[in-house]
Amino acid sequence: MKRKTKLIHGGISTDPATGAVSFPIYQVSTYKQEGVGGHKGYEYSRTGNPTRFALEELIKDLEGGEAGFAFGSGMAAMTAVMMLFNSGDHVILTDDVYGGSFRVMTKVLNRLGIDSTFVDTSNLEAVMSAIKPNTKAIHLETPTNPLLKITDIEQVAKLAKESGLLTIVDNTFSTPYWQNPIELGADIVLHSATKYLGGHSDVVAGLAVVNSKKLAEDLHFVQNSTGGVLGPQDSWLLIRGIKTLGIRMEETEKNTASIVDFLQGHPAVKKVYYPGLETHPNHSIAKKQVRGFGGMVSFDVGSAENADKLLSKIHYFTLAESLGAVESLISVPARMTHASIPIERRAELGITEGLVRISVGLEDVEDLIEDLKQALE
Ligand SMILES: Cc1ncc(COP(=O)(O)O)c(C=O)c1O
Repeated sequence: MKRKTKLIHGGISTDPATGAVSFPIYQVSTYKQEGVGGHKGYEYSRTGNPTRFALEELIKDLEGGEAGFAFGSGMAAMTAVMMLFNSGDHVILTDDVYGGSFRVMTKVLNRLGIDSTFVDTSNLEAVMSAIKPNTKAIHLETPTNPLLKITDIEQVAKLAKESGLLTIVDNTFSTPYWQNPIELGADIVLHSATKYLGGHSDVVAGLAVVNSKKLAEDLHFVQNSTGGVLGPQDSWLLIRGIKTLGIRMEETEKNTASIVDFLQGHPAVKKVYYPGLETHPNHSIAKKQVRGFGGMVSFDVGSAENADKLLSKIHYFTLAESLGAVESLISVPARMTHASIPIERRAELGITEGLVRISVGLEDVEDLIEDLKQALE
């Protein structure tokens, strides 16, 4: 099955019970048993729900894993994966990881004894030297948010295997349409499905895919025990969103290429961050592991004041957190998505006050460029 076909026919695309072509929303919490334990595969919807299972089978197929799991948010998915570890374990993460991922590691999971170190994972030596005797996993975000740095998944996964560690990849920015970490050696893939997979700014959800029966058993145990599951309505919305992921990503790619071209030539823009640029330091790695560079672009306008001026004039780019929707969005990471990262750390990473991040949507690109042009002037 090719990729666009799989988005539509992967997983359980029709309801086996009724033949319904749109998989039904099984709005149900419990299931009748004919005798004690005599059920049809479902007992209670925290443990399993048919609509959620259809989504979990779909993401499993799209990522090429052993099993998929759906959670109430991307952060719930990440937390559940981290619950595979024990007090005293250590995890290495990408340094400019999503602010919420930084926060859960350093303000919540640290209290439970799960220690973390943040390094530039695009630098293999830095990853290697961060490995400690109690390290259990390397968590990568690639491309990163908001600086669009790229980590070589294959190389890190190889190093992780040699050291007996798991490789976890947050694939939110690329989506399974452009990048498949499990094929590159990763063990676990995470998604904030709130973004491109949902695609319409109408659902908050998280997905995880694992590559082995043992991890599937362990993660199902955590999912069922801690209970942060996705409801059937939202599972259905995601299944619907995913059907058009391919055409949305293709169109986004075209719009983004034109916008990057425009931004690069504009005198008010000091720097453009986009992995599709040949001048991007990790462009050759990106080209090797992704089929498309995505719709996220960051650019520096020099100061918070300039960023505010741009925001006050911009029209089609909605000032909002989040990304990956049909509508173009704009944000200032230092004061929004990455505000939970301490200011000194932001400065170290290069997340400046003048850094603006856009998520390119599906409007006509001529309108988007015209809008950026008038706002930058
Ligand atoms: C890369 C990345 N991972 C994880 C998350 C967390 O996902 P959610 O907001 O669905 O909890 C986000 C949210 O912005 C994200 O951008």
